[in-house]
Amino acid sequence: MLSKVHHVGIVVRSADDALGFYRDALGLPVSVDRVIEDQGVRGVLLPCGSAEIELLEPTRDDTGVARFLQSRGEGQHHVCFESDDCAADLRAAADKGVQLIDGAPRAGLAGTIGFLHPKSNHGVLIEYATPVEEAHVGPGEDAIARRIDHIGIVVKDIPTAAATYEHHFGFSLDPDLGGNVEALGIENAFMLAGNAHLEFIRPTTGEGPVAKFAAERGEGSFLLSLAVDDAEAAVATLRERGARVADPNNGVAFVSPRSSFGVTLQLVERS
Ligand code: CO
Repeated sequence: MLSKVHHVGIVVRSADDALGFYRDALGLPVSVDRVIEDQGVRGVLLPCGSAEIELLEPTRDDTGVARFLQSRGEGQHHVCFESDDCAADLRAAADKGVQLIDGAPRAGLAGTIGFLHPKSNHGVLIEYATPVEEAHVGPGEDAIARRIDHIGIVVKDIPTAAATYEHHFGFSLDPDLGGNVEALGIENAFMLAGNAHLEFIRPTTGEGPVAKFAAERGEGSFLLSLAVDDAEAAVATLRERGARVADPNNGVAFVSPRSSFGVTLQLVERS
């Protein structure tokens, strides 16, 4: 069974550089920092609420992560769901017709892990992980980012994508959230994945960042939203620490992808 978002994976050129933002500016602690030789990556885990942010830096040129970096640049790479039995959940996914990248589980940064093909999941690379150690607790009191609020996924048709995710992962749409957001030229719906929402987003006009993403990339993970206590204060502190952040609007602020290492990163005020 899948229970929640375990982490969001972000591919970066240099983990040291990216730590300057995710650790030093956002205030997230580092729980794991390790080179996995056979996978050719350095992985750094930063707890954020009951989930984590995983920075991935390729250490060789012949890996999937290195190819992603070459073709797409830095940014959001995958979403990982926590599983109580990675092998059983991979088998269950295969039985539902999901194309797997890992037919059998293997050892990864987050425990026993396996990847599902993005083709089967509306453009999102999905990982399952069964942690081998106790969950890390974080972030600390002085962190700006309290938890992962939601992960935005651009799709062609919301009911189709929601049905796929419900069937594959067992999460359900939240009937009280979402709708037509005319000011943003989008339609959205939210599905609670344990500790964070998945937001399905469909552009309703030809303009704006969602329509641009849909035209250039099709479907896929588009945005990472982190909850903050106070948007104005978070923006002021991040600016003091050298990050570029737009002025908050109704409790929502966007960090420049230049500061967040390619991620479309939103800060949202939640009490
Ligand atoms: Co991962």
